[in-house]
Amino acid sequence: MYSGAIPVDPFDLVIFGGTGDLARRKILPALFRRFCAGQFAEGARITGAARAGMDAEGYRAFVADVLRDTADPQAGDDTMLGRFLGTVDYVAIDATGENGWAELAARMTEDRARAFFFSVRPRLFGDLAERLHQHGLASDRARIVVEKPFGHDLASARDLNATLATHFHESQIFRIDHYLGKETVQNLMAVRFGNMLFEPLWNSQYVDHIQITVAETVGVGGRGDYYDRAGAIRDMMQNHLMQLLCLIAMEPPAKFDPDAVRDEKLKVIRALDPVQPHHIVRGQYNARPEGAGGGALPGYREEVGNPRSKTESYIALRTHISNWRWAGTPFYLRTGKRLVARSSVINVMFKETPHSIFGQEAGRHANLLSIRLQPNEGITLQVTIKEPGPGGMRLIDVPLDMTFAEALGPASGRAPDAYERLIVDVLRGNQTLFMRGDEVEAAWAWIDPIIAGWTSRGEVPKPYDIGSTGPSDAEQLMTRDDRKWRGINP
Ligand code: BG6
Repeated sequence: MYSGAIPVDPFDLVIFGGTGDLARRKILPALFRRFCAGQFAEGARITGAARAGMDAEGYRAFVADVLRDTADPQAGDDTMLGRFLGTVDYVAIDATGENGWAELAARMTEDRARAFFFSVRPRLFGDLAERLHQHGLASDRARIVVEKPFGHDLASARDLNATLATHFHESQIFRIDHYLGKETVQNLMAVRFGNMLFEPLWNSQYVDHIQITVAETVGVGGRGDYYDRAGAIRDMMQNHLMQLLCLIAMEPPAKFDPDAVRDEKLKVIRALDPVQPHHIVRGQYNARPEGAGGGALPGYREEVGNPRSKTESYIALRTHISNWRWAGTPFYLRTGKRLVARSSVINVMFKETPHSIFGQEAGRHANLLSIRLQPNEGITLQVTIKEPGPGGMRLIDVPLDMTFAEALGPASGRAPDAYERLIVDVLRGNQTLFMRGDEVEAAWAWIDPIIAGWTSRGEVPKPYDIGSTGPSDAEQLMTRDDRKWRGINP
């Protein structure tokens, strides 16, 4: 059961870029669902802010259309929708000029939490921060929310951090990595630190290696322009996969509090070894021809409109964490688009028993803990047992399987979208699930040399087929170490 429905005190939330893609796809639907869940106290106010010269009525009609398009069943309930729209306002504003700022400031005179969503291009962050300050809106109770990508390398991330720090304290800056808002990603911490069972085994003495896979079936879609400059390394690896790596590898924080958790994550990033060139594989998907199963689909280069693109849509790498807990345990990370299935899973492969009392014929066996983040969220522990029957002591591996939806039954309810959780945390001022500035910079400091290496060696990504598991070189990354990727389950 999602028990986060304790009402949030009246607040002001302003969405800069209120008519943009993120507002439409994520922010507005998330706000609406939390409103329907009874989480907004009387007096909550949501203000769309954008350049478009529309009025509040026009914006409410826009929001109503957006919500109806999301096919949220509650958007069909006119009373509920009407009540939500009653909280919505609009101001036409110019991030780089004076237009609209006095009007916004005049509306926000109460002393209460204020959240400003910077759902605009990063080059406007500085202007927005400056204007908020000039108009007295950057009070202690103000929070700003920024989306990834947070910079495109270490230098730009530092610049952005410095820009935001001019008028806002770190405790007011909420950097979103939406993976941290996913229920199952938060569950990673519950599984690790809520059970005595795993933690004593969670180290290089017992764990052979760990695999983190985030596979997608979607292509680059309409974001070709952005994606071709980012690639899988900046779009997914620098943030989502590194965050998963941190949660799976970090030391137990003293408490579940923002800085305690983020300090431990930062230590993991700082302990990462540089990635060796032969421990990394990049891929780019080919077009799928007419007549192939599933029909024709454009290849990566066509999709981004850049016939010579050297950007990767797939990446797999092996790394190590040089600390007492993990020295000697490889971590394998992979992510890609247009793969055979959508599957985010973390596999913790334990070592084989030091000695088999059952002799050679019993084979080699090792426990595997699979944590499925999406879809079909759950946990499977592979356990070795005796094969039933009179055939002697023959061992087989069987799954001890828990799918959360089945285990929790109707109480599991609808899993809230990551943004629902994250927006509520912003309004409450809880930064545990947001990236701290030093964390982001440390992540770039690890990523930058990888990208610089590709550039200096003039490397191009390996082609792979749509609907495959990625380039064959990625399989070799494992087989060379006498290991194998555990399937992207279709
Ligand atoms: C985004 C990336 O951050 O995460 C996208 O920019 C990617 O390229 C998306 O598709 C994946 O998120 P999810 O929640 O669908 O796993």
